[in-house]
Amino acid sequence: MGFYYEKVLRPILFRLEPEKAHDLGVTALDYLGRMTGLCRLMERFNQVSRARPIELFGLRFPNAVGLAAGMDKDAQFWRATAALGFGHVEIGTVTRHRQPGNDRPRVFRIPEHGALINRMGFNNDGCEAVAKRLRATRRSRKNYIPVGVNIGKSRIVPLEQAVGDYLESFNVLVDFADYVSINVSSPNTPGLRELQGRESLNTLLGELSRLNRSRARKLGHRPTPLLLKISPDLDFRQIDEVLGVVAEQGIDGIIATNTTVARPAGLARFNEAGGLSGCPLHARSVEVVNYISLATGGKLPIIGSGGIDSPATAGAMVDAGAHLIQIYTGFVYRGPFFAKQLARALAPRHGDWV
Ligand SMILES: Cc1cc2nc3c(=O)[nH]c(=O)nc-3n(C[C@H](O)[C@H](O)[C@H](O)COP(=O)(O)O)c2cc1C
Repeated sequence: MGFYYEKVLRPILFRLEPEKAHDLGVTALDYLGRMTGLCRLMERFNQVSRARPIELFGLRFPNAVGLAAGMDKDAQFWRATAALGFGHVEIGTVTRHRQPGNDRPRVFRIPEHGALINRMGFNNDGCEAVAKRLRATRRSRKNYIPVGVNIGKSRIVPLEQAVGDYLESFNVLVDFADYVSINVSSPNTPGLRELQGRESLNTLLGELSRLNRSRARKLGHRPTPLLLKISPDLDFRQIDEVLGVVAEQGIDGIIATNTTVARPAGLARFNEAGGLSGCPLHARSVEVVNYISLATGGKLPIIGSGGIDSPATAGAMVDAGAHLIQIYTGFVYRGPFFAKQLARALAPRHGDWV
């Protein structure tokens, strides 16, 4: 299947401007997601499930491979991702206010490096619209894969008011999310990554954790797992600070990593502004995952993301300490059934698969 995608479909798609190709893919997945019967059938065929699912922060994941944030920004096609074999999907980034994102063009392919540069800037329908979409499908989601929701800061909100902005999105979305990931690492919202600094992060995560716990107490259920998504551009000292805050505020896990503003050797000429993803990011993401895993004695759940484009690179991420993985750019380059291929390849590492 991957062969036909790469030889036939990808060359056609890659003739289109990258975001047009993306929109076409989203439309196709949206249609697929509406065909519940077909999705169920495809799921049976494509889901590589374990006899015992992977249990992490109180959730059950049928396999280790998730769709990273940014592809299904507005919760349009989560059901189709299950049909393609993904073990979880992360919606978003969603912001409090609906926003158009940056001007186009804002996604650039670098096929010779299996990479993308994007400066989308959190284009999304806003938390109310996304919550409405998730609410409508909540009941039918019960037997599906976990759906995480990634939240970020609205562009119109000044950095000093970021906490309130995150809290409002959280409040609106949390009831419809299996987990919430807090995005402080996208390079395309001015100032956002400053929220990774010790004090700002402590305030942000502290307030979100408090709200999460008090809501859960009132409603009589357990708090929703909170994850933090970090940048690959933090140095090890900054990562130590982040881990200190994560421990202090009882955050359930880390997603490492988002895209990088660095341009590794050989890529200096690709100077479009934005975050680089795909193969050139892989080594750094693995290094960050490995560092976090060692620093936390393997006890903090880690979702590894960055340049996974083959079973070998997925294996390297798991060997570095990732409990789950997420893909984005690999999905663009390798095609719709890449998740299934990776889930199959990772199966023996986890034992007892069916
Ligand atoms: C076009 C594009 C849009 C993205 N949008 C988001 C986003 O909205 N929120 C987010 O947390 N990450 C976003 N990401 C980052 C991915 O979720 C992922 O962490 C990163 O690309 C590294 O994985 P990859 O190399 O498999 O793509 C985006 C990535 C791309 C390529």
